[in-house]
Amino acid sequence: MKIREEAGIHVAIIMDGNGRWATRQGLSRVAGHRAGVAAVRRTVESAPDLGVRVLTIYAFSSDNWARPAQEVESIFWIIRAFLRLECERLRKNGVRLEVIGRRDRIPRALLREIENAEKATAMERTLHLRIAIDYSAQASIAEAVVAVQGIAGEVTAERMRSIITQRLTADCGDVDLLIRTGGEKRLSDYLLWESAYAELFFTDRMWPEFEGSDLVAAVYEFRHRERRFGAVPVLKASSMLVAETAQ
Ligand code: IPE
Ligand code: IPE
Ligand code: MG
Repeated sequence: MKIREEAGIHVAIIMDGNGRWATRQGLSRVAGHRAGVAAVRRTVESAPDLGVRVLTIYAFSSDNWARPAQEVESIFWIIRAFLRLECERLRKNGVRLEVIGRRDRIPRALLREIENAEKATAMERTLHLRIAIDYSAQASIAEAVVAVQGIAGEVTAERMRSIITQRLTADCGDVDLLIRTGGEKRLSDYLLWESAYAELFFTDRMWPEFEGSDLVAAVYEFRHRERRFGAVPVLKASSMLVAETAQ
């Protein structure tokens, strides 16, 4: 785990607050989603210098289908425009783009743009940018379980656990730092398995207001947290040993 962290951290972001930000400005919710794109750009550009190796951003949850059809359509349109307009810039900046989530319900034109962007950036290695679209953490875990059914031999709980972990994190590692903007303190079905030991960072700032400096502040706080993964801190563990030996 430590070695992975040294190679760069995995940051996940729940980009929340677009609608409230827009409403407060007297704008439509869709204008908020549009303004959110600029915040994505800022975040992607500041991430590599902060030691971020993987960035997983929540763009559309499977529960967001419950929103008015016009808002849903606009969100897909905005993501599609982002992919089309930013693909070349992402590639030049060494960003490998990947979309996670269900692909069978999103509009065909968006799917084509996703496939193009994934193909065009597949060889890039500076930053692995994962965009979650029609994503549900519970569904992704359930899919992993279904996939296990084809595997031969007895599947014990321990084996199941390692197979699910392998399927969900082989390519990106566990989440080290999970940021949620917009003031809510919940996970909204995001990366539940991958965030088992993630450090959580909640900010009241609405997503369209999120700046590179906010990412700096979150990563700074992360670096000062003591991660224990269920063990005792290394320093304390060794000083306890010294104390015991001295007795
Ligand atoms: C997050 O902003 C973006 C999506 C869910 C697509 P919201 O649209 O949830 O904004 P609020 O929470 O209503 O302010
Ligand atoms: C989570 O935000 C999903 C995204 C940011 C894409 P929501 O606004 O949908 O979450 P809830 O409804 O407040 O939990
Ligand atoms: Mg919201």
